[in-house]
Amino acid sequence: MVEECKPVLDTGLRGLVIASSKISDVRGSEGKLIYRGYLIQDLADKVSFEETVHLLIHEKLPDHKELKAFKEKLAAERHIPKEIVDALKTCPHNALPMDVLQAGVALLAHHDPDIRDQSREASERMAIRLIAKLPTVLAAWERIRNGRDVVPPRDDLDHAGNFLYMLKGEIPSEEEAKFLDTCLVLHAEHSFNASTFAAREVASTKAHMYASVAAGVGSLSGDLHGGANVRVMQMLQEIGSIENVESFVEKTLREGKKLMGLGHAVYQVDDPRAFILAPMSKRMGERVGEIQWYEISRKLEKTAKKTFKEKKGLDLPVNVDFYSASLYYSMGIPVDFFTPIFAISRVAGWTTHVLEEQFAEAAPKPALYRPESKYVGEYCGLEQCEFVPLDKR
Ligand SMILES: CC(C)(COP(=O)(O)OP(=O)(O)OC[C@H]1O[C@@H](n2cnc3c(N)ncnc32)[C@H](O)[C@@H]1OP(=O)(O)O)[C@@H](O)C(=O)NCCC(=O)NCCS
Repeated sequence: MVEECKPVLDTGLRGLVIASSKISDVRGSEGKLIYRGYLIQDLADKVSFEETVHLLIHEKLPDHKELKAFKEKLAAERHIPKEIVDALKTCPHNALPMDVLQAGVALLAHHDPDIRDQSREASERMAIRLIAKLPTVLAAWERIRNGRDVVPPRDDLDHAGNFLYMLKGEIPSEEEAKFLDTCLVLHAEHSFNASTFAAREVASTKAHMYASVAAGVGSLSGDLHGGANVRVMQMLQEIGSIENVESFVEKTLREGKKLMGLGHAVYQVDDPRAFILAPMSKRMGERVGEIQWYEISRKLEKTAKKTFKEKKGLDLPVNVDFYSASLYYSMGIPVDFFTPIFAISRVAGWTTHVLEEQFAEAAPKPALYRPESKYVGEYCGLEQCEFVPLDKR
């Protein structure tokens, strides 16, 4: 069977185009990210997360009337059932937030009235509910693990502002809400990244929206994907001060370890989102009197690129996680919530991809993802191993 397929072994599917999609385009050599035809630089601080979700799911930027209706629809879905809050209270306080979020996705599925309906309309309603409710699950978990009362959502606040309100129990400043909103826009979609591929692979089996999104959350949790923003902050804390940057870079590369927030599987040049996040990190650092995290990041980026080039002769592009770490930290967001915040944004991309995978009419696609592997295991030196019953082994 394997012999009939073109073998592409041990490459992590790099460079392989495996499906058509109309959702986004990542042009790695040009440093361009495009959502439904729009450059991320043009969207970043000009559209809200709600407009971005509308663009992704409904394939167009909304006008005033459509946006108002869409915001109301999302806000109306923010509440989570009391049974879910009670279930979260049974989790140990040191549970990993991404695990809690993944469990939250499964719990939400039990309460969704559309769960057995396989129509496009039902799947779209489930997508909207997931996008609206995941921030509520996450904020509830932060309150519960700290022994505090859960703050119910408000429908008079925007998506980002409401999340910060539920998280901290007070209405955020306009600038803070705006910064988080921009972060959500920037992280919403990124073509066939690992977690989106995971979600689409599950969707290709005709599993429902929640099963697909739960797979996405699991994939995003890894250090080499969404977990990198946490590792960036830990790295900045380990470096501690700007004087230690050079020796840290030297030692990390000498030991063959990774510098987190740098390098990318697709971008050969800097990630365009990093250019938007860097000044936001600086501004927030100045605002809270903790500019050192931005300054260490800046010097680290320059030093790492220079040293990497000298040692390997290669460019080391900066990625989206690099400056989002110091930005979230300055915003007072717990470090282990950095990846879950990525998830409450990327759920917009995952759900859009699930809809495309299951309902797109135009794009030709496989009915079910099913690659092959090449068996390199044992045959006991024979045609196949001779079976020996248990009592004769
Ligand atoms: C994202 C990542 C997994 C891409 O890996 P990749 O596709 O293997 O990257 P490349 O093929 O371009 O790597 C080329 C070489 O650079 C090295 N490299 C890549 N990123 C590196 C980094 N951040 N620090 C140190 N070395 C790095 C690789 O180990 C490889 O070295 P080798 O040839 O000796 O094996 C990798 O860059 C990484 O682990 N980065 C840190 C984690 C991170 O920030 N992840 C978030 C991504 S958005």
